[in-house]
Amino acid sequence: MNEFSSHAACVAALVERHGARQDALLPLLHDLQAEVGFISEEAIRALAAALNLGRAEVQGVVSFYHDFRTQPESRPVIKLCRAEACQARGVEGLIAALPDDFTQRVALDSVYCLGLCSVGPNALVGGAVQAHLDAEKLQQLAGVKS
Ligand code: FES
Repeated sequence: MNEFSSHAACVAALVERHGARQDALLPLLHDLQAEVGFISEEAIRALAAALNLGRAEVQGVVSFYHDFRTQPESRPVIKLCRAEACQARGVEGLIAALPDDFTQRVALDSVYCLGLCSVGPNALVGGAVQAHLDAEKLQQLAGVKS
């Protein structure tokens, strides 16, 4: 968890930093997820109240962007680029070459372009872009193979 006693307390601190502005909703959600790891129902209610928005409006934004999690994730998260250039450089074959239990041990999210198209397939691992991936390197980066 983090230094906050509740998700509502974390929301309050973030709203203090960003200001209680409706146009700050997306940065608030990103910071909240970075701080807590996911966007809880408690946080959605607190954000809605702080920004004078409906709970459903905040929920709608959270569910629209697949980057936001609504449940905690205990597995390491890898954001694998599946956009056109990385497809052309073999990302689908890379996924097919992963062991069957890989996604039980690692949360494999899809992203669409990390801005390094010429050196793909690429992924974000621990917040850092990793290039020239193959299945073996991806497993090593995920810590599931030495
Ligand atoms: S398409 Fe994958 S980094 Fe651009």
